Amino acid sequence: MTSANPPAPRVAIVEDDAGQARQLGRILELEGFSTSHFASPLAALGAWLQVPPDLVLSDLNMPDMDGIAFLEKMREAHPGLPVIMMTAFGSVDTAKQALKLGAHDYLLKPIDVDELLVTLRKVLQTHRLQQENVTLRKQLKTQYQFERAVGAAPAWRRVMETVDAVADSEATALILGESGTGKELVAEAIHARSARAAGPLIKVHCAALPESLLEAELFGHEKGAFTGAAALRKGRFEEADGGTLFLDEVGEIAAPVQVKLLRVLQQKTFERLGSGTTLRADFRLVAATNRDLQAEVKAGHFREDLYYRLNVIPIPLPPLRERREDIALLAQHFLAKANALHRKHVEGLSDAALDAMKAYGFPGNVRELENLVERCVVLCRGPRIEPGDLPEALREVSAPAPDAEAGPLDRLWRGELNLDALERLIIEEAMQRSRGVQTEAARLLGISRRTLQYRLEKHGLSKPADE
Ligand SMILES: Nc1ncnc2c1ncn2[C@@H]1O[C@H](COP(=O)(O)OP(=O)(O)OP(=O)(O)O)[C@@H](O)[C@H]1O
Ligand SMILES: [Mg+2]
Repeated sequence: MTSANPPAPRVAIVEDDAGQARQLGRILELEGFSTSHFASPLAALGAWLQVPPDLVLSDLNMPDMDGIAFLEKMREAHPGLPVIMMTAFGSVDTAKQALKLGAHDYLLKPIDVDELLVTLRKVLQTHRLQQENVTLRKQLKTQYQFERAVGAAPAWRRVMETVDAVADSEATALILGESGTGKELVAEAIHARSARAAGPLIKVHCAALPESLLEAELFGHEKGAFTGAAALRKGRFEEADGGTLFLDEVGEIAAPVQVKLLRVLQQKTFERLGSGTTLRADFRLVAATNRDLQAEVKAGHFREDLYYRLNVIPIPLPPLRERREDIALLAQHFLAKANALHRKHVEGLSDAALDAMKAYGFPGNVRELENLVERCVVLCRGPRIEPGDLPEALREVSAPAPDAEAGPLDRLWRGELNLDALERLIIEEAMQRSRGVQTEAARLLGISRRTLQYRLEKHGLSKPADE
């Protein structure tokens, strides 16, 4: 019985010297490669229009096209096709130039058989790994794109309910949240769940571009509109026609561009820079910022009228520390993703490691958790992630020392408090704030004075009548 062998790698020999080509072909066939021979680059390019080979072994000096020009043509027609150049000793410089242009390697003539085989196998192997990686990343991207919004905490569910409601409408949405809370992910979800899903989703990172470039990016420009405008370029408004325009970090837009943006939002019309022709684009706007835009308006940094245009449906995203229930779920999700990406088989997180994560503040929110899990998966040597695999910052919080910053809710989630103890803390705080006046404390707590008295007693907090 023979197991199915993988198909023999197909090597194309491009060489004008028929004798040398025949000799090479014989050696390679003996070593299990399948070969074809082309006497000129033009013949080869013509033949590969349908199916290119797995690897090209090409002479550098040929009559109808030199090796460098041939390489450039191959790059255009078959990017990624591995090429090994063969050259006589005198033209090593050209061979090096070929490497710069993307050839994978070169061999000196007369060809040494061992070197030929080693180089060939090495190049094929590297190429195969690269291809696999590209395919894997593509698969992961699609696989995780649509079921990506992980979360079951009430605060996150409310976000997703709003996302669905917004998606059904044409309303402008303003996504607000700290860095790494999922603003871009939510913008993608709105687009994907909307009637515009088949249209484009155009993302503009407003903080990444200086004022003048941002304007050109959004509005587009005619050829020659300004120095450097070598050709006509459509703007992002135009590109978003029929789809969604996502203005990320909208709080960073400079005042002059704010005015122009406002006009577009009011009229849905605009002109390319350097053009008098009015254009119209039909897009739904989603904006995001990690700034307190209202405060920016008060401080005079952001136009109030633009703020109201953007803030039609605000979608505030909870920081991760306010939905710690989701940490386990998210960690599991990122673990599966990192395992797939790095070909690892980490089973999960130990309870202690998970506890340490749940106790951590995650200033970088979900993004920080994602990076953390990926790092752990890469470095993890055992079957699961243990506290010892976590970075210093997390191991510290997992120590029992209470964190002075932590509010009662944080402590409840960490398991340092139960609900009963939390109730006691809240009642104590209310009593302190009302300086011991029960009617006032009851009002703060939204309960009747009788209920308060009952609870004070229950927690052993009641003092002799104090009013
Ligand atoms: N609920 C979620 N489920 C799964 N992955 C999430 C979730 N929220 C965020 N992520 C992931 O966390 C990372 C950060 O999310 P995203 O880029 O959307 O955040 P952001 O708020 O735009 O951050 P920044 O303010 O830094 O731009 C991304 O890789 C995203 O896929
Ligand atoms: Mg973002």
